[in-house]
Amino acid sequence: MKKFKLYSLFGEQEEKVFEPITTNIIEFDGNFSLEQSVNNIIHGDCLQVMRTMPNQCVDIVITSPPYNLLNSTGNGLSKNTKVGKWKNAAIKNGYVDYEDNMPYDEYVEWQRECVSEMCRIIKDDGAIFYNNKNRVQAGLLQDRGEILAGFPLRQIITWKRSGAINFNPGYFLPTTEQIYLLCGKNFKLAKGANKNTDVWQVKQEMKNPHPAPFPEELTDIIVSSTTGKIILDPFAGSGTTAISSRRYGRNFILIEKSRKYCEIAKARIDGREDWRDV
Ligand SMILES: C[S@@+](CC[C@H](N)C(=O)[O-])C[C@H]1O[C@@H](n2cnc3c(N)ncnc32)[C@H](O)[C@@H]1O
Repeated sequence: MKKFKLYSLFGEQEEKVFEPITTNIIEFDGNFSLEQSVNNIIHGDCLQVMRTMPNQCVDIVITSPPYNLLNSTGNGLSKNTKVGKWKNAAIKNGYVDYEDNMPYDEYVEWQRECVSEMCRIIKDDGAIFYNNKNRVQAGLLQDRGEILAGFPLRQIITWKRSGAINFNPGYFLPTTEQIYLLCGKNFKLAKGANKNTDVWQVKQEMKNPHPAPFPEELTDIIVSSTTGKIILDPFAGSGTTAISSRRYGRNFILIEKSRKYCEIAKARIDGREDWRDV
């Protein structure tokens, strides 16, 4: 049994016990079963999987899709960068089974379809915490308003990171990402959680083999700020959402396209010491 320090924006620290459980990786075959998916990892394309999920079957979605980072107008990320500011950025190589390089319009359309499915499958008192990031492309701000237009956006939380790697003489070094809170009409935070404010200062995660993981502190804040019992992460990566879900006694469903990341997430949730080397 492992003990983890709990994070709080107010400096209080309590210990929460994370009890590893044995999870299964389910190969998506076109059919979704809620019973079989809970506390398991579905290996598949999240849009295809979500389309088979019933209406209002999960309470909370916490997710961070790929940011389309390799689609860049220049002075940005490139897979072949061997020198300079990007050379040590794990994300420059993209994900193991996903290029992260769509034409911008296609990316927006894809993400709108994903968000639309998330809105359909959360309950009336549920919510979606959708993490994405503003970018400057061809000298102009590309925010995520186009993706989220028309969806029930209630708040934009600022995630203040400790640093950044996007140096450009044309604008100030960005050190923030956004967490868009989209809500069912009856959504309420857990008691007292609104004191967490709308700016969260959380360092980026450095000890995870996944190139773009959530820090556990971030998902801890989200899970502990909500009361939902089933938490979905459709872009699950290394499974950080599941770790926080278990820590707070909630159930999770993970969906991830890369078999490799499914295996890392499984080893991590199962409590294997060597999950980083899987
Ligand atoms: C920003 S990462 C998420 C990282 C995760 N929050 C964590 O803590 O490790 C995005 C993930 O989406 C996955 N992905 C990309 N396209 C996908 C798709 N169509 N369906 C499911 N997962 C996908 C990538 O393989 C990657 O692991």
